[in-house]
Amino acid sequence: MIVTTKELFKHAYGKYAIGAYNINNAEQTMGLFKGNLDSKAPFILQISKGARKYTNKLMLESMIRAADIIFPDAIFAVHLDHGDEEACMDCVESGFYSSVMIDASDQEFEENMAITKRVVDAAHAKGIVVEAELGQLGGVEEDISVDEGHAALTDPKQAKEFIEKTGCDSLACAIGTSHGAYKFTTKQGLHFDVIEEIQKLVPNFPLVMHGSSSVPQEEVKRINEAGGDLGGAKGVDETQFKRASELGVTKINIDTDGRLVWCRVHREYFRDNPKEFDLRKPGEIFMDEYANYIIHKNRMLGSAGQLEDVRTNLK
Ligand code: G3H
Ligand code: 13P
Ligand code: ZN
Repeated sequence: MIVTTKELFKHAYGKYAIGAYNINNAEQTMGLFKGNLDSKAPFILQISKGARKYTNKLMLESMIRAADIIFPDAIFAVHLDHGDEEACMDCVESGFYSSVMIDASDQEFEENMAITKRVVDAAHAKGIVVEAELGQLGGVEEDISVDEGHAALTDPKQAKEFIEKTGCDSLACAIGTSHGAYKFTTKQGLHFDVIEEIQKLVPNFPLVMHGSSSVPQEEVKRINEAGGDLGGAKGVDETQFKRASELGVTKINIDTDGRLVWCRVHREYFRDNPKEFDLRKPGEIFMDEYANYIIHKNRMLGSAGQLEDVRTNLK
C-alpha cells in the first residue's frame, strides 16, 4: 500500500527512523520489498532523476505497481529523490508519487525558498508531501571544525525561517554526511549539535539525513578481494542512527550500500564461476543478499517490527 511520507513520519517521529532506499531495477525492487516485509518495516522507496532516466520512469513506476501487488502487506511511500523543479512538477502531475524532494540547496537562501515554495504549493494542492534541503552535504572529519569551511552545515535559525516560509513537510539537513562511498578519510564528524538545535527551534518537525550509507568494511574488503579497487571507502557509523532519530531525524537515506552489495555479489560470482554468463544466477543471489542487508539496516534504524502498528494507526 502506497502512503505518504507524512503518515509514516507521524508514527516514527522521535522513536525511530524510516529507511529511504533507492531503486533502479527489478532485482533491487524485489530485494527491497522482501527485506522490508521480512523485517516487518514500513519504508520509503526513492527514485532519483538518474534512475528515472536509466531505464524509463514508466518502467520504474510499473515495477513498483507490480511489487505492490506481489507484496500486498507492504506499506511504503514513493518518493522522488533530489528533484529539481521540473522533475518535481512532473512527479506531482503523474499522480503516482506520494512525496517529492525539491533540492535547490545549491541556490542562495532566498532563491532556495522561492523554488521550494512553488513546489510546495503545487504538491500540496494534490496531497503530495514535500522534502526540501538546506545546507550543502560534504564529509566533515571529526578533527575538522565546521568553521574551517569544509562544508556548509545547515544553519538552525535559517532552517526555522525556511520551514515557516516554505511550508515544506520535512527538511534535509547537512550535518557532515556526504553521498557515495568516500565520506571521511579519518573519523566521521557528524554534527548532532546542529540537529539538536534545529529540533529545539522546530520541535516535532521531521528532519532527513542524506548520505547515510555505512559502507560496511567487510563489503569493501570482499569487493577488493574480488578485483575491485575501493581503497579508503568509508561511511556513517550506523550505531548513530538511534541518537539521530531521538533528535527528530525521521528519514535516513541509503543508496550506496545497496550498490556495494550488488557489486560484491556480481564480482564474487563471476570470479568464482568464470564459465558462467547467466545474469539470473547472480541476480538471485543479489535479491536475497540485498533483502538480508535491508533487514539488518531496519534493525539499526528501529523501523523493524513497526509495520503492524503503522497499519493499525492508518485505519
Ligand atoms: O543522492 C543520490 C542518490 O544516491 C542517487 O544517486 O543520482 O546516481 O541515482 P543517483
Ligand atoms: P548514500 O550515498 O550515503 O547512500 O546516500 C544516499 C542518499 O542520500 C540518497 O538521497
Ligand atoms: Zn541524498
